[in-house]
Amino acid sequence: MTEFHDLSEKLLNTGDQYWGNLGYWQAEDDYSMACKGLANQLAVAAELNSSSRILDVGFGCGDQLLLWLNEYHVESLCGINYSYSQTDLAQQRLVSYGYSDAACNIHSADVGKLLDLPQLNTASLDQINTVLALDCAYHFPSREQFIRDGFTLLTESSNPQSKRVVLTDIVLAKDLNQLSWHKKALLKGMLWLSRIPQHNIVTEKNYISTLYGIGFKKVDSKDISESVFLPFGAWLALEENRIKEAASSRSVWLKYKVTTAFLAWAYNNDVLRYVIVSATLK
Ligand SMILES: C[S@@+](CC[C@H](N)C(=O)[O-])C[C@H]1O[C@@H](n2cnc3c(N)ncnc32)[C@H](O)[C@@H]1O
Repeated sequence: MTEFHDLSEKLLNTGDQYWGNLGYWQAEDDYSMACKGLANQLAVAAELNSSSRILDVGFGCGDQLLLWLNEYHVESLCGINYSYSQTDLAQQRLVSYGYSDAACNIHSADVGKLLDLPQLNTASLDQINTVLALDCAYHFPSREQFIRDGFTLLTESSNPQSKRVVLTDIVLAKDLNQLSWHKKALLKGMLWLSRIPQHNIVTEKNYISTLYGIGFKKVDSKDISESVFLPFGAWLALEENRIKEAASSRSVWLKYKVTTAFLAWAYNNDVLRYVIVSATLK
């Protein structure tokens, strides 16, 4: 069975890494370093530490789970990912690094059913204090519903510590009606090709007010667009020959080429921005 989210990003990575996000790029970074950099930005915003009990949605092939466990020493984690192939690989990797308990707590499932998942046993969710979505909530059937459900789970959790939902995400730079028809058309076409529901792409202002509307008491957001949109394309251009040669087909290479060209266009034309958002219950 072919899946939209699969193991193909291995091609962009080095060593035994399978990251698949847009990256937080610093000078001299390669793709894997930049992806890990974005995960670290999320971890800092979420204040991950040895008391963190995480629900991670859209964890890719598990690189970020290993990061939370190895470098932030989180107390526990559970998670779901729509992709079977990625979840399977993530489970194998967790086991091979000695995290069998965590491997049993991650499952393939659709976030749309977050409150109704028999796979996630109540013991895993009972004590969570952190809900994470690294570069993926824009793909969800409804980001707003995911955040509402995260809020519900955190409210029901008996953990006495501070509780939050933290995401890295794509937002609109300005209202859609301020865009010319051809910019709107290109944006809609690319969202469709990238499996991003259009209703998920809202301005940062609307995003934040939705979070307050759900009931969060404190919302922080940080615009990190400059370190995301253009450098990914610049790196891909430098690596073009290597990646083209290693790609199994021309369409695999084209996917990255078109994505990075679109991201550069969206940034240069003030259409999209990239943010880290942290919403705290109290
Ligand atoms: C752009 S990738 C990011 C992967 C990973 N977080 C990383 O940074 O490498 C998006 C992830 O979201 C997951 N995803 C997309 N739609 C989902 C859904 N409806 N429910 C759960 N996970 C979903 C995909 O399977 C994929 O792992």
